[in-house]
Amino acid sequence: DTAPVLTIDGPGGAGKGTISRLVAERLGWHLLDSGALYRLTALAAVKHEVPLDDEAGLAEVAVGLDVLFVAEPESTRVLLEGEDATGTIRTEQVGDAASRVAALPAVRQALLQRQRDFRKPPGLVADGRDMGTVVFTEAPLKIFLTASAEERAHRRQRQLQEAGVDASLSSLLKEIQARDARDMQRSVAPLKPADDAITLDTTRLTIPEVVDRLTELLTERG
Ligand code: C5P
Repeated sequence: DTAPVLTIDGPGGAGKGTISRLVAERLGWHLLDSGALYRLTALAAVKHEVPLDDEAGLAEVAVGLDVLFVAEPESTRVLLEGEDATGTIRTEQVGDAASRVAALPAVRQALLQRQRDFRKPPGLVADGRDMGTVVFTEAPLKIFLTASAEERAHRRQRQLQEAGVDASLSSLLKEIQARDARDMQRSVAPLKPADDAITLDTTRLTIPEVVDRLTELLTERG
């Protein structure tokens, strides 16, 4: 576990996923999408008919999670028990179930070592909510990526439009605010910047600008 780690935490829709992938690509580092692990736990629970409030049962699902991340040029393909789950885990329902499952301490504990195992040479970019505060507390560079809720709703709407889905801005804004509240108010690993994190507000920044800024910071610190 001597490989360097860059943690990127923040609320949903701040651009963490895209930014983390691009930074990892540029550095040639591994990538941990921790949100995907919570989404996959929720999906596997539904598949095996484990109720989303059965904490012990869900922890068992998390421990036994049979998942494969296959890196591809533009994205990562996700296999759950050998079946493609790349699109399924991105749905609103699975995201919602993930944030419920993620509020349970036994589930978080069950996923801890699995997340730490992603740390391998030459380095790791870890994307999530508690990468800097819980999972990789000793990371040399911790970033907290934010954007206004309105901007995040706009971005989400554009994403959905590209996928051919119409959604109203006000309903997206409400969903984002509800998810933020749940992630920030939970008692275990609430969403907040680590004491030693650098906060980067991406509301008025383009994706390449953010990627450049992060690689700069890493060079300064490295
Ligand atoms: O980032 P993503 O939207 O995929 O995460 C889905 C849900 O998983 C989040 O709403 C959050 O509740 C939970 N999560 C978490 N800790 C992480 C990553 C995600 O609690 N490190």
